[in-house]
Amino acid sequence: MCGIFAYLNYLTPKTRLEILELLVNGLKRLEYRGYDSAGVAIDTPDGKDMALVKKNGKVKILEDEIASRRDELGANETVNIHVGIAHTRWATHGVPNVANSHPQRSDAGHSFVVVHNGIVTNYKEVKTFLEKQGHKFESDTDTEIIAKLIHHLYEKHPTYSFRELVEQVIQQLEGAFALCFKSKHFPGECVATRRGSPLLVGIKTKNRLETDHIPILYGKDGDNNHQEHRPHGRGELPTLPRSESTSEFQPLEDKEVEYFFASDASAVIEHTNRVIYFEDYDVAAVKDGVLSIHRLKRLTDDPHAREITTLKLQLQEIMKGSYSYFMQKEIFEQPESVVNTMRGRLNFEDGTITLGGIKEYIPEIKRCRRLMLIACGTSYHSAVATRQLLEELTELPVMVELASDFLDRTTPVFRDDVCFFISQSGETADTLMALRYCKLRGALIVGITNTVGSSICRESHCGVHVNAGPEIGVASTKAYTSQFISLVMFALVMSEDRISLRQRRHEIINGLKQLESQIKQVLKLDQKVLELAKELYNQKSLLIMGRGYNFATCLEGALKVKELTYMHSEGIMAGELKHGPLALIDDSMPVMMIVMRDPVYIKCMNALQQVTAREGRPIVICEEGDKETMSFTDRALEVPRTVDCLQGILTVIPMQLLSYHIAVLRGCNVDCPRNLAKSVTVE
Ligand code: AGP
Repeated sequence: MCGIFAYLNYLTPKTRLEILELLVNGLKRLEYRGYDSAGVAIDTPDGKDMALVKKNGKVKILEDEIASRRDELGANETVNIHVGIAHTRWATHGVPNVANSHPQRSDAGHSFVVVHNGIVTNYKEVKTFLEKQGHKFESDTDTEIIAKLIHHLYEKHPTYSFRELVEQVIQQLEGAFALCFKSKHFPGECVATRRGSPLLVGIKTKNRLETDHIPILYGKDGDNNHQEHRPHGRGELPTLPRSESTSEFQPLEDKEVEYFFASDASAVIEHTNRVIYFEDYDVAAVKDGVLSIHRLKRLTDDPHAREITTLKLQLQEIMKGSYSYFMQKEIFEQPESVVNTMRGRLNFEDGTITLGGIKEYIPEIKRCRRLMLIACGTSYHSAVATRQLLEELTELPVMVELASDFLDRTTPVFRDDVCFFISQSGETADTLMALRYCKLRGALIVGITNTVGSSICRESHCGVHVNAGPEIGVASTKAYTSQFISLVMFALVMSEDRISLRQRRHEIINGLKQLESQIKQVLKLDQKVLELAKELYNQKSLLIMGRGYNFATCLEGALKVKELTYMHSEGIMAGELKHGPLALIDDSMPVMMIVMRDPVYIKCMNALQQVTAREGRPIVICEEGDKETMSFTDRALEVPRTVDCLQGILTVIPMQLLSYHIAVLRGCNVDCPRNLAKSVTVE
């Protein structure tokens, strides 16, 4: 997904080279989000124009281009006040190429440049309007209309401030966006805004800030200011009311200050741990080194200020360390990450569980009509994995929904529903839209996320932070096992006063206690999994079968294989075998089967026999020492036994390792698979 990074230094001298390095480095931190081209914009050495450097492909290519143009870019000159903006683009409108990459400009003279994450859905309408006004377009992007529109408005209203112009622009836009603007006409100023896509600013001052919040300034006309005015394709834009601020505010004591606008904290953390997460409709402007946050409309529950958050994230937490890939590191971090998910919540001594973020809502949840678990991709699989246990321990109907399909169906939702939104990033557009849909209908919203400060966190009534630590690899691994455990803990909390479930709860809590060491044991299979990967990596397809508690592992394993190796793979419910998939089986079709000694063991054995009877040669994931199951295969991955409802945590790890090794053997980009992004902030 696109990544925004902008750097403003105010009275903090930097050479242009330092600024360019800072911008490129910021983009490198955002690389994991997925992208296909990158670009930067800085002032030209004479200060009269802007230099745009844009390249198709990796940030490294952009970096090399910048290095080759050092003199032209005035690399050694020092500037006291400067704004640079940078971007990694993930193509949505128009192929990946230099013209379509960002920053997008208003005109050849670079009056305004902008970087954008998201999609403007009414861009054709605005484009038609601008074309009729004589503007010529040079890209296929939706973003270019934003640069041209602000220029158009500037020419019409030359007395407007930079922030006011941006406010005029965003009132014309539909869709989702985070935007960061730079202008030749407003040197040293930067304006950023968001609606639906994440954006934050890091603040770095010499001395600690006197304040821990920035007051929000509202438009003079309050609600009346926030009108929707759209261009009609003909004639001039309607004149919108100006939105002068109600007051002037100097939030920072320090004169010397640096600001880092970014799509996420990983790009900022090495410079400062003091950040503000922007909310939809915030317009943040830096002028004369002073940051102000403005909103056109005051909603009833709007806060008076945005808090400055102190990030606890360490840079080394987001670095690869001794591992070859982030994904590999994240797979091997699981013994630790699962403990972090339980830390401070699960007391193994007395078997009590406290989920601080939802504690107060438990009585309300217990009274609900049903639980709905809504998510996408891997996060959805964590819901599939825990549904059975949730049904058992809560005795409530549990619906598990893919966010996109849930929205397509305009599913009925009621005030007495409790809706869980599970998301590693907390920014997935479909999940977020489903959340808003349910919130509007009065349901209780519970967020299960791995990203503090994310949109899903902020928009939920309550929630559980899964605490898996930063996940950089596009393929989700440790977030899955932590989501799984978070949902198990929720089920345990819901059943804490049920005497009839005491024994069952005890077994599960005991199982959770053993997980750390059992995961370590599973990870020892790595070499064996590599050998299997060598056998499989030239194949075209891989079927993964199982049922009951391990069906989610089949779906998740197949998703991992698909996204990382570009091989076809399918997770098959073993109970469906006779209803079609059995026709695929012969001696050459690669098959994996998960056969654990749980309540569906006999049924799984039945499926295994059917596959071998058709000359299938399945690789089996089974329980340690299960000779009976292993007698049907010459290739088995033995995992330790745990309680049935937790077994999926141990069976998914060999699948993560297998997809990882196949991807490496096939020469695929492990951390950034083609066409994919870490955080899918568009529908
Ligand atoms: C996982 O490997 C995938 N990359 C993808 O399915 C992901 O889980 C999905 O896009 C949802 O993301 P989220 O958890 O950040 O909402």
